Amino acid sequence: MCGIVGIVGHTPVAPLIVDALKRLEYRGYDSAGVATIEHGALARRRAEGKLVNLEKRLAEEPLGGLIGIGHTRWATHGVPNETNAHPHFADDVAIVHNGIIENFAELRDELSSVGFVFTSQTDTEVVAHLIARELRGGASPQEAAYRSLQRLRGAFALAIMFRGDEDLIVGARNGPPLAVGHGEGEMYLGSDAIALAPFTDSITYLEDGDWVVVRREGMQIFDMDAKPVSRMRQQSVGTSFLVDKGNHRHFMEKEIHEQPEVISHTLANYLDFAAGRVGGFDLPFDFAAIERLAISACGTAYLAGLVGKYWLERYARLPVDIDIASEFRYREMPLPKASAALFISQSGETADTLASLRYCRGEGVPISAIVNVRESTIARESDGVFPTLAGPEIGVASTKAFTCQLSVLAALALKAAKARGVLSAEREQELVRQLSEAPRYAAQALKLSERIETVARELSHVRHVLYLGRDTSYPLALEGALKLKEISYIHAEGYAAGELKHGPIALIDEQMPVIVIAPHDRIFEKTVSNMQEVAARGGRIILITDRQGAEKATVKTLETIVMPDVPEFVAPIVYALPVQMLAYHTAVIMGTDVDQPRNLAKSVTVE
Ligand code: G6P
Repeated sequence: MCGIVGIVGHTPVAPLIVDALKRLEYRGYDSAGVATIEHGALARRRAEGKLVNLEKRLAEEPLGGLIGIGHTRWATHGVPNETNAHPHFADDVAIVHNGIIENFAELRDELSSVGFVFTSQTDTEVVAHLIARELRGGASPQEAAYRSLQRLRGAFALAIMFRGDEDLIVGARNGPPLAVGHGEGEMYLGSDAIALAPFTDSITYLEDGDWVVVRREGMQIFDMDAKPVSRMRQQSVGTSFLVDKGNHRHFMEKEIHEQPEVISHTLANYLDFAAGRVGGFDLPFDFAAIERLAISACGTAYLAGLVGKYWLERYARLPVDIDIASEFRYREMPLPKASAALFISQSGETADTLASLRYCRGEGVPISAIVNVRESTIARESDGVFPTLAGPEIGVASTKAFTCQLSVLAALALKAAKARGVLSAEREQELVRQLSEAPRYAAQALKLSERIETVARELSHVRHVLYLGRDTSYPLALEGALKLKEISYIHAEGYAAGELKHGPIALIDEQMPVIVIAPHDRIFEKTVSNMQEVAARGGRIILITDRQGAEKATVKTLETIVMPDVPEFVAPIVYALPVQMLAYHTAVIMGTDVDQPRNLAKSVTVE
């Protein structure tokens, strides 16, 4: 999603803004721009595509100025070209925006009818003109911004700069995150602490409905009634993180390889390995007292939740309703009194997940969240937070956050099972031991990288791929298909293996690769039958299984990837890795932009 940076500084800010924008690249974007006040006038450089294009523009025509705002844009209204790129100008106003102004058409008509001329197709430009109109009417920049904010509907974060006041940036937040960074005689605004990490680790997060006046010597936050409010200043954990790929070609590869370590950190946060006990959950409800759990999330986080449903129902005998958050938020699902809600989000900012959380808040059920970014809105609005200790995830396609979400969910299932009296101490010890071995199995799975690269060569020639799995391998089939289409742009679909005969089997021919995820578990034989159905129609099977599965699969496969033998409980965590590596290697062979695939965003703060 769009990234915002603003600096009121004492050295030329354009190069600093571009550096900060680079740290926001991971969010996904398709154009970028920077504006400063140079020799008393608003000046800007913008470019379609990646930041290198903006850097080229700046090299040809450098931009001076000690105050500036910058932006990476992920197109919502209007194609991603230079004209639609931010910052947008109107009279003396320069603005950058993340989110959607829902009533922009109405505002544009109102402004056009009194002579304001629009130069872009964006919803953002209306905000610039609204403020310009207030300024023409004699309002001060601060008043003009405040009055205009009151006219806006939708979700937005804004940074606004005014020609004539080189010591002022106004920021506003209603939805997407915005943080103020505190420096020495220099102040910053940014979409997150990662963007501001080179400048400061002292951060104040705006809350929804807040707007802020930022000057070199400090800042003041106001609420929607223009009353000053105080928000906590905190040390950001983002600063310890460098945007660095290490020895890896891509962030995604690095993040795949970090999994043994981050899975183990995450598990250790919830499990006492020595005692073989589950612990460590800041639970806002009692698992023994609830009859249902509602989970909602988006994308890969949703698929983690789907695995969680199997675990919570099987091990804790707790019925789980799981929804895609964009559906849940409008579905008006009745939530019984004896229920609780769980949200899963890497970023903690996904608009649909946040809206679902707020729906549940309205229904009065206790709210918990599995998040990776601990300072995020979803974390802050939850009664109980279960962090994943994945560290910053930069690759747009989620990998290590997914396996860490699974790790938390596995531990949570044990916690629930214990509370509900369906887990004996011996069984708890056994399952905790199995989980403690997940990082080692994950490290073994990583060794299959070369083998998987060979399989990826086959995939790189095809247009369509099917993924099949049963039980907890079904969500992995969905995740495999999602990963492949996200980063290689090959059309892929995941299906429950048993559902094959109800439709997708019509697609099977000699060209169609079918990737079957099937550890040798209690329903392996059933999956073998489905593979027979594929083989009988000439389909090319790529089987991901273990030693026993490879021996017992009586079907001719094109390729078989033999995984370490792992207990059924931890299999989804470990089998996620070959699925990720297959997508990764295919995308690398095909030469796509692995870390920032087209049209995708890391943190989706719009509907
Ligand atoms: C985007 C990302 C996905 C992610 C999803 C949910 O679509 O590209 O990788 O799974 O959003 O994001 P969240 O931050 O809520 O986990």
